[in-house]
Amino acid sequence: MHGVFKKNKMTLISKDNTFVWHPFDVYNSENLLVKKAKGIYIFLQDGRKIVDGISSWWVNLHGHRNTTITNAVSKQLRYFEHVIFAGFTHQPAIHLAENLCKCLPGEMKKVFYSDNGSTSIEIALKMSMHYWHNKNQNKKVIIAIEGSYHGDTFGAMSVAERGGFNLPFEPYLFDVKFISFPNNEESIMQFSYICQTNEVAAFIYEPLVQGSSGMRIYKPEILEKLLKIAKINNIICIADEVMTGFGRTNTLFASNQCETKPDIICLSKGLTGGYLPLGATAVNQKIINGFESKKIKNVFLHGHSYTANPLACAAALASLKITLSNESIKNRKNIELWHCNFIEKIKEKNYPLKRLEYIGTILVLEIDNQSDTSYFNSLREYLYIEFLNRNILLRPLGNVIYVLPPYIISKVELNKIYKAIEEILNLLSNNNISNKL
Ligand SMILES: Cc1ncc(COP(=O)(O)O)c(C=O)c1O
Repeated sequence: MHGVFKKNKMTLISKDNTFVWHPFDVYNSENLLVKKAKGIYIFLQDGRKIVDGISSWWVNLHGHRNTTITNAVSKQLRYFEHVIFAGFTHQPAIHLAENLCKCLPGEMKKVFYSDNGSTSIEIALKMSMHYWHNKNQNKKVIIAIEGSYHGDTFGAMSVAERGGFNLPFEPYLFDVKFISFPNNEESIMQFSYICQTNEVAAFIYEPLVQGSSGMRIYKPEILEKLLKIAKINNIICIADEVMTGFGRTNTLFASNQCETKPDIICLSKGLTGGYLPLGATAVNQKIINGFESKKIKNVFLHGHSYTANPLACAAALASLKITLSNESIKNRKNIELWHCNFIEKIKEKNYPLKRLEYIGTILVLEIDNQSDTSYFNSLREYLYIEFLNRNILLRPLGNVIYVLPPYIISKVELNKIYKAIEEILNLLSNNNISNKL
């Protein structure tokens, strides 16, 4: 046997510490070693059973090791694992694109595949820029919303809130015009003003909820006004449904809650039910028309090695079927009702909260610890550890606690999370919250 595979005495966790660089490595504690996962539970090597209250970073819609999705992936494995997607095609990719186009809002006509949420955004941005380039029009301005997050690649960082996550890269990001968070008319005035320049290529937004900046919820009525102005000004509208897609906000897609639909929709996360990485950028006829000429300079020259991975597409098809089933729709309605009841129950109590609300299956509590609301608020680590001590995985966004469970969670299981939240709120109320700063 080659030396590299020889066993040594290091524990797995010390090897993890030595050799593996984890994302967002901010909680100075050791990573938890997972043995298996099933339903809403993650089983650890040390015997603990953790409730996955955030669907493993918002991807796992139907619980871990769902039989239908597992079978779909296994079946595809018997045929082939992956083939080049330039010049070749396959059934899972075709069926998935057809079905996505049928159920996405806004008469989407084609799907461009990639690997993750960030790449689905890069593709949407590049398509928009390329569209105006092909039409020989000088439209170079992109509009985004303050507080937005669209991923960690350079285009995605450019259209996101500056500072924080992307501070070291700011000098390298392209210019974007930001409008204020759309919870009042000011954002509409700013938007109209920028549109008047006639130089705007695209408007990118997280419909109804800004996820990473603290699950900030806004009303479809204001988004509707923005989209109407964008359409009148012939601006390409890009809906980032990476987090909101597939039933998270009550409707199948958040964009369903507006009358005016986007031209491009970005999908990932829940797309495969949390099984395999896959991104999808769906476009309407307007965008396709911009690429009609077959001259090489007009062709969209973009592609990833794992484009339309057949295993991922098979998982996505199975996940979509489950999402559309009556049972899953009923589950989502139940979660919404339970969130609503929980809010009613605790809103009269004197907890230190700036915000207590829900949208679809997402529950949000913004804690007032006399510090600015931000991902870097010092309560984050305290809250994370308090929940883990109760065998619950929640990853608060600074001082914002949110619950975003797999749709199969039962009332009893969700009650465990609510109980933990109340316990921690009581602790914070009794122990003078500034002690946790
Ligand atoms: C709204 C939104 N868009 C894009 C992304 C990026 O997705 P990924 O992490 O798969 O690159 C995220 C990730 O959290 C997101 O919340």
